[in-house]
Amino acid sequence: MRAVAWHGTHDVRVDTVPDPTIEHPTDAIIRVTSSGICGSDLHLYEVLGPYIDEGDILGHEPMGIVEAVGAEVTHIAVGDRVVIPFNISCGHCHMCSTGLQSQCETTQVREYGTGAALLGYTKLYGQVPGGQAELLRVPQAHYGPIKVPEGPPDDRFLYLSDVLPTAWQAVKYADVPEGGSVAVLGLGPIGEMCTRVAQHLGAGRVIGLDLVPERLRRSREHGVETVDVGAHDDLVGHVRDLTDGRGPDAVIDAVGMEAHGAVLGKLAQRLAGFLPDAVARKAIEVAGVDRLSALHLSIELVRRGGTVSLSGVYGGAVDPMPMLQMFDKQLTLRMGQANVRRWIDDLLPLVTGDDDPLGVESFATHRIPLEEAPHGYEIFQKKQDGAFKVVLKP
Ligand SMILES: NC(=O)c1ccc[n+]([C@@H]2O[C@H](COP(=O)([O-])OP(=O)(O)OC[C@H]3O[C@@H](n4cnc5c(N)ncnc54)[C@H](O)[C@@H]3O)[C@@H](O)[C@H]2O)c1
Ligand SMILES: [Zn+2]
Ligand SMILES: [Zn+2]
Repeated sequence: MRAVAWHGTHDVRVDTVPDPTIEHPTDAIIRVTSSGICGSDLHLYEVLGPYIDEGDILGHEPMGIVEAVGAEVTHIAVGDRVVIPFNISCGHCHMCSTGLQSQCETTQVREYGTGAALLGYTKLYGQVPGGQAELLRVPQAHYGPIKVPEGPPDDRFLYLSDVLPTAWQAVKYADVPEGGSVAVLGLGPIGEMCTRVAQHLGAGRVIGLDLVPERLRRSREHGVETVDVGAHDDLVGHVRDLTDGRGPDAVIDAVGMEAHGAVLGKLAQRLAGFLPDAVARKAIEVAGVDRLSALHLSIELVRRGGTVSLSGVYGGAVDPMPMLQMFDKQLTLRMGQANVRRWIDDLLPLVTGDDDPLGVESFATHRIPLEEAPHGYEIFQKKQDGAFKVVLKP
């Protein structure tokens, strides 16, 4: 089969590799029909090289048609249309049964002391071959796969794999009071979906912050009050002015960080290199594109007694945190990988109804053949050609 494989920093290729087969009675094989490229994949593309081997197959946002099932897989059958959650979870351990599927005790990667294994996401998360491929072996398939109806286009359901549950969890964890205010930092696919979910769940004010003009425009068109982080010398003061002088009730950090410690400054420059020049310069001067500053900004922005919810991935082991400010402001912090399965019952009715309240059908900007994956990674990272969400079609 053909599959997207990691070959080095900024180097993904479509390789011919052996077809996957059923290895355990709890496995299934699916023929992939759509597979998203995620901001998390950009971390692999950019800096997580030490944890990934050349040839590892990427991708954790797949859906498709069941080709084969192991003996213990009974809730799906050959020919069913299914979406595959990005976390691999068993459904019956203590963590899974309390809705913490991202901490599944059956698939935890003990060698690295991390939580549940993930599809296509480095040795830290089990080095499981991913779903940007023609075929995918799905471990723990007696539980994970979400059966979806025939008929509507793939885009209706694809985001159940990651974007929708991640955004849903971020907003739930943000604990926005009814009619209250929430600011979302970063308006990539995750951040923008957070703004849509927050509106849907009844937030009174939704403020979105980014520095890429098209992304700000997309959110504005959805009724989000947008703030260009590069355009204000006193960004915190500006957001406070929008929220009765207090700051938003909750802040969601949907930026994340790709590195920590000494490499951070260098990374900031490399990231800035992917933005249009003027935007990048302003960002470095004012906002700092080094991604720990996004978290620190969230802590500064949120009102006293408010909640900061992190969906952006952080990886630093000893990141310095502003403890005085966090303690003094009496903040609540929540974070983590999405527990995908936990939120599916809430989300399924929203994607199956005619009205498409979260706008998933028009969410992707690019649907391209699997063979063009290297180009898809490049335009998504460099934010070129209007790339916002890229979906690969094997
Ligand atoms: N928790 C989870 O389960 C989960 C799931 C999926 C993705 N993620 C993470 O969410 C994050 C976002 O993913 P995405 O797919 O939206 O990717 P993305 O890279 O497209 O989004 C990041 C956005 O942040 C913006 N940004 C960068 N620096 C900023 C700054 N200083 N201030 C404001 N905005 C800034 C970028 O312009 C971009 O629009 C990533 O870290 C990804 O790994 C987490
Ligand atoms: Zn993802
Ligand atoms: Zn489990």
